[in-house]
Amino acid sequence: MTFPPHVRLVEVGPRDGLQNEPEAIDTGTKLALIDRLGAAGLTHIEAASFVSPKWVPQMADHREVMHGLRRHEGVTYSALTPNLKGLEAALECGVDEVAVFAAASEAFSRKNINCSVAESLERFAPVLQRAREANVRVRGYVSCVLGCPYEGEIAPARVAEVARALHQMGCYEVSLGDTIGTGTPLKAKRMLEAVTRDVPMERLGAHFHDTYGQALANLYAVLEEGIAVIDSSVAGLGGCPYAKGASGNVASEDVVYLLDGLGIAHGVDLEKLAAAGSWITRAIGRPNRSKAGVALSSR
Ligand code: HMG
Ligand code: MG
Repeated sequence: MTFPPHVRLVEVGPRDGLQNEPEAIDTGTKLALIDRLGAAGLTHIEAASFVSPKWVPQMADHREVMHGLRRHEGVTYSALTPNLKGLEAALECGVDEVAVFAAASEAFSRKNINCSVAESLERFAPVLQRAREANVRVRGYVSCVLGCPYEGEIAPARVAEVARALHQMGCYEVSLGDTIGTGTPLKAKRMLEAVTRDVPMERLGAHFHDTYGQALANLYAVLEEGIAVIDSSVAGLGGCPYAKGASGNVASEDVVYLLDGLGIAHGVDLEKLAAAGSWITRAIGRPNRSKAGVALSSR
């Protein structure tokens, strides 16, 4: 058992956290959230998503969000870009980094991005090429790594295959998404074991949703294996619009509390992060799903 000495947190609250909110959230609120997250010491914030506004209306103000950022020094502001159209728009807005997203499930791929897994990989190749020309790094996501809402069980070998393809294509990091939060710790370890045969551990991140309350346990399991990049969402906001029943990502506050207890460095100010979590949940009228956040805010 060797924990990494340092973990990099990728805060996905402004994107994954808010993309599924049914009521329109004004751009100012999103920008204030992103500002608070930067002030709390998060160094990587997924700020927007350059997807079709017909598919995900909540992310339609991607340009305004990117242009309105009050940038904190040393913070990477990234955005999702499923195709060249999205990438070009994101580049025009001065994005620092982008992410493409594939799935280990055919059915989910079709529901989420309207094409097969193979077609999505073909579509990403020119995105990576164009991003390289623009000197912008590309992160890759694999969804449904521990289960699919349509296909059920997903073979670890299939996850490895898609992760390898994204890595070989030039994604500097591949984030493994338990989109519907059905994973459990041993399953997470086995999946990671399969993926690390093809992609080095230091190129992988864990992106776990907490639908079944397993996300922290799953993170502990993969930290033991050496995962050193964790995606999380302040106050546990979120869910994927194309994964019915999926709840939010693991809460950033809870991850930070866990890392503190394990003596793993992360660079985040937990008090400020918890304050950001209680502020955004009040602002959008949502329950705060971070246990640590609620405990800290009610002291
Ligand atoms: P499509 O309909 O197959 O694409 O959608 P198309 O190329 O035929 O275009 C259709 C329309 O969309 C056209 O407009 C395009 O201009 C427009 P129209 O002529 O009808 O007016 N369009 C765009 N508009 C803005 N930005 C773009 C763009 N591309 C096309 N980039 C597409 C394909 C991928 C666009 C669509 O399926 C889509 O936007 N899907 C978004 C799905 C999504 O955002 N899902 C949530 C994020 S993924 C996630 O949450 C999982 C993750 O967190 C990891 C995990 O948890 O597992 C990352
Ligand atoms: Mg997600």
